[in-house]
Amino acid sequence: MARGELMKKLLASYGRDEEFRAVAEQIIDEEEKKNNRVLARSLRKTLETGPSPSRPSGPKGLAPLIPFPDAAADFIERVEPTHARNDIVLGATNVRVLLGLIKEYRRADDIRRHGLKVRSKLLFCGPPGCGKTLCAEIFAAELGLPLFLVKLDRLISSYLGETAGNVRKIFEFARKQPCVLFFDEFDALARSREDSSEHNELRRVVNSLLLFIDNIRPKGFLIAATNLDRSLDPAIWRRFDEVVWFDKPSKSMIGRFLRLKFKNVSVAFDPLRHASALDGYSYAEIERVCIQAIKSMIVERRKQVLERDFNRALEDEVRRRAGQSRLAPPS
Ligand SMILES: Nc1ncnc2c1ncn2[C@@H]1O[C@H](COP(=O)(O)OP(=O)(O)OP(=O)(O)O)[C@@H](O)[C@H]1O
Ligand SMILES: [Mg+2]
Repeated sequence: MARGELMKKLLASYGRDEEFRAVAEQIIDEEEKKNNRVLARSLRKTLETGPSPSRPSGPKGLAPLIPFPDAAADFIERVEPTHARNDIVLGATNVRVLLGLIKEYRRADDIRRHGLKVRSKLLFCGPPGCGKTLCAEIFAAELGLPLFLVKLDRLISSYLGETAGNVRKIFEFARKQPCVLFFDEFDALARSREDSSEHNELRRVVNSLLLFIDNIRPKGFLIAATNLDRSLDPAIWRRFDEVVWFDKPSKSMIGRFLRLKFKNVSVAFDPLRHASALDGYSYAEIERVCIQAIKSMIVERRKQVLERDFNRALEDEVRRRAGQSRLAPPS
C-alpha cells in the first residue's frame, strides 16, 4: 500500500489500540521490504517498548488512553467506531451544531483563556432509530476521542447496592480521560426520578447521579441520549450545554437516505419514487426495508434490485408495524 495511505490509516486508527498496532506493523514491514532495515528495527523497538512514561501526553488534539478502571467494567464499555461521517444523514441544523461543537473543542484552550466555558454536555433527543447512538459514535471518531458507553440501567440498580464507589470511578475516569462518555437510554434516569416517589433510596441515588453530571467538566464530551420528547423534565434539560434533535426523516432526507443505502448496488427502479410511502418511518425502519430488498436480489442470484424486492420488503415492514401496534399497551 502507498505510504500516504498507510499514514492516513495510522492516524485514523488512533485510540483503537489493535488497529493502530496492525497498521504500524504494516508500515514496518514495508520498510523492511524496501531494505530500510535500521529504520524498521528502530520502529519495531519503539512499538514494542511503547511510549516513554516520562513523555508528556500525546500531540495536541489526540487523546492519550489511560487505564480503564476494572471495577467499572460492568457499567461502562469501550465502543470501537465502525461508522464514518458519510454513513449518517443529518439535517443542515444538526451538521452546523455538531461542527460548531467540534471547532469549539479544538479551540478549547483559547476559549478558556477568555474566561469562557466550552460546551461539553450534550443531550441527544428523538424517537428510536433516528441516529442518536450512530451520531455519538461518529462524533467521537471525528474528534479522535475514544467512545465509552455507560450502561445506565445497571449503574442505577448497582448503585443501590455496594458499588457506589464505582460510579465515582467512572466520573474520575471521564475527568482524566479525554473521551466521549455516552449515557444511552438516559430516559432510565428521568423515569426513575418520576417513578421513585415511593422509593426514597432510588430517588436519592438518581439525584446524586444528576449532581455528578452537574459537577463534572469532562475532558471530552458527555452525551446523553433519550427517546423522551420535549416533555422531558426541565431539571434534566438544564444540565446540558446543548440539545440536539434527531427527528424522523423528512421526504428529502428519506431521498438522501435511500440513495445512501443503495449506493453500492445496481437498482432497476428509482427508489426515490417510494419516498412518500416511507413518510413517518424511522431511519432504522427504512434501512431494514433497503437491506431486505438487497437480500432478495442476492438470494435470487440477480445483479439488480427490482422494484418488487423493494415493495415486498416494504410490505413486511408495514406488517411488522401493525404487529407492534397490536402488542403495544392501549394508551
Ligand atoms: N440519521 C441516520 N443516518 C443514517 N443511518 C441512520 C440514521 N439514523 C439511524 N440510522 C440507522 O439506524 C440504525 C439505528 O440507529 P441508532 O441506533 O443511531 O438509533 P437511536 O436514535 O440511537 O435509537 P434508540 O433510541 O432506539 O437508541 C443505525 O445503526 C443506522 O444504521
Ligand atoms: Mg440509541
